[in-house]
Amino acid sequence: MRATIKILRFNPEVDKTSHWAEYQVDTEPNEQLLNVLHYIKWNLDGTLTLRRSCAHGICGSDAMVVNGRNRLACKVLMKYLGSSVTVEPIRGLRVIKDLVVDMEPFMAKYKSIMPYLINDEDPGSRERPQSPEERERFDDTTKCILCAACTTACPSFWANGEYVGPAAIVQAHRFIFDSRDRGAAERLAVMNEWSGVWRCRTIFNCVEACPRDINVTKAIGEVKKAILFDEV
Ligand code: SF4
Ligand code: F3S
Ligand code: FES
Repeated sequence: MRATIKILRFNPEVDKTSHWAEYQVDTEPNEQLLNVLHYIKWNLDGTLTLRRSCAHGICGSDAMVVNGRNRLACKVLMKYLGSSVTVEPIRGLRVIKDLVVDMEPFMAKYKSIMPYLINDEDPGSRERPQSPEERERFDDTTKCILCAACTTACPSFWANGEYVGPAAIVQAHRFIFDSRDRGAAERLAVMNEWSGVWRCRTIFNCVEACPRDINVTKAIGEVKKAILFDEV
């Protein structure tokens, strides 16, 4: 199939604003968009800049806006995109160059929720046991790959960059509801701050954006409930 790929480009060394650049490619319907971007970079314009690592939907580094929707370039096939494709950097984070954005503010929010197991109790002779039911409570949120597709699709985040965002809430959920963890009160305090979970207006863009099919709004609702009823 022949496709026209329009990419929103920005080079801080020469550009004052971003601009569209258009490339014609011949590709296979089952080709990943990521490979088409590689083709453009390696054969048509070596200055095109993008992030990627695993190419298999695991590392979360190639989130971008594809035909107006947040996607991982490695998880979307050309046959689903049609013959005219637009590609833009994810929104709400500073563009460093082309499709690469500054992830530092996003990672700072991730760090703010203490994304590690907190438990100083002696585990005894066994590792900390957990029943299948206890594990099930946070199973969905363990699937997060920190791609930022949810947070950068959220209008509340666009309007207020201080909002901790759905990705950080998903990560907080993963530990708050882990029966082995003892840091729930600290994390719920972060979630209850001005920039925390109450900035969510239940807009649902985050659910549609998540490439791991995590029920982000359900997780957010459970964190809100845990704050309101002081129970985990
Ligand atoms: Fe990406 Fe989904 Fe995690 Fe958000 S919740 S960072 S969209 S994997
Ligand atoms: Fe934003 Fe998702 Fe809430 S899009 S407002 S975090 S439901
Ligand atoms: Fe790793 Fe796409 S390159 S998720």
